[in-house]
Amino acid sequence: MNSVIEITRAKQSNLPQIDFGNLQFGSVFSDHMFAMEYVDGSWQNHRIEPFGAIEVHPVSASLHYGQTIFEGLKAYRGPDGQIRVFRPEMNHQRMNSSCERMCMPKIDEKTFIDAIQQLVHTDRDWVPPGEKQALYIRPVMFANEGQLDVRPANRYRFLIITSPVDSYFGMNTVAVALKAEEKFTRAIQGGTGFAKAGGNYAATFLATNEGRKEGFAQILWLDGVEHRYVEEVGQMNICFYLDGKLITPQLRGTILPGVTRDSVLRLVNDMGIECEERLIDIQEIIDGSMNGTLQEAFGCGTAAIITAVGSIGYRGRKYEINCGKTGPLSKKLFKQIIGIQRGEIEDPYGWTKVIPNH
Ligand code: COI
Repeated sequence: MNSVIEITRAKQSNLPQIDFGNLQFGSVFSDHMFAMEYVDGSWQNHRIEPFGAIEVHPVSASLHYGQTIFEGLKAYRGPDGQIRVFRPEMNHQRMNSSCERMCMPKIDEKTFIDAIQQLVHTDRDWVPPGEKQALYIRPVMFANEGQLDVRPANRYRFLIITSPVDSYFGMNTVAVALKAEEKFTRAIQGGTGFAKAGGNYAATFLATNEGRKEGFAQILWLDGVEHRYVEEVGQMNICFYLDGKLITPQLRGTILPGVTRDSVLRLVNDMGIECEERLIDIQEIIDGSMNGTLQEAFGCGTAAIITAVGSIGYRGRKYEINCGKTGPLSKKLFKQIIGIQRGEIEDPYGWTKVIPNH
């Protein structure tokens, strides 16, 4: 591990006040956070400090123009007591690709991964032990320069905060209802849909609020040109098990290249099931639900893990999938991914990194 990270410990831990049996996604935070600043062309002052409020310049491009990006990954506590982080190098690659799109300074892989490892190590008692639980790790980078001109900033702050969580949709979620959205658009080619830019998420709130009033948990985004091809859910990528094949929207700049999506494709392929990454017409999914060839649908993401989709609302009608229940492939994938992440089953892919216990 890198020793140049200065550590200032919190005077008192908040852990005794936390009930791991009742965790709302992202509502409690561990005792420490990682921080560093980009000043004069380099990242400086790498440190772990007590979690708390920070100073942001009131005229920063992050507040005014949305120059902010983030990442999401998790640390898991296995039944063997070991803590493992899942594929952090993929989050690093994706963060740097978001940096490029948003004209922000990149971070080298060693700095990114050392910061995560040391922060998780410092707050290792905050990693909850439950099967669907984990310590969610949220790196975030934002402009922090006093400058109103509409241009990329010269100063940035990078933080990593962590939060003990259950699965995004809650411990007892069976299968979620999605609304295929035809009025609003999440992304178009040439835009920022593939980047984890803060504004991508704020732009989904209105559609999600409308969908919730109609009884849907989330939005199933369609392409921004014809509102015809399935894209993603916003909090997760989407996969369909259609006529014996796993199909998922191809990466063409409009959806997030998910780490769980990539892992699912590898696992399903290794199960001997044919996988296709391609354009998926929403009508093909509706037809599959009506004629019984659509066997299952599920979302996959760091926060959501594998979450079954029980129905899709489209043009005022609700189409059921697998009688609204989690299907066998979704269950098997959930068990395999969680099993690898928690060290319960062998990790033949070298996806997990163990955090030393001392
Ligand atoms: C993640 O799975 O890490 C995400 O980014 C979803 C999050 C916005 C809740």
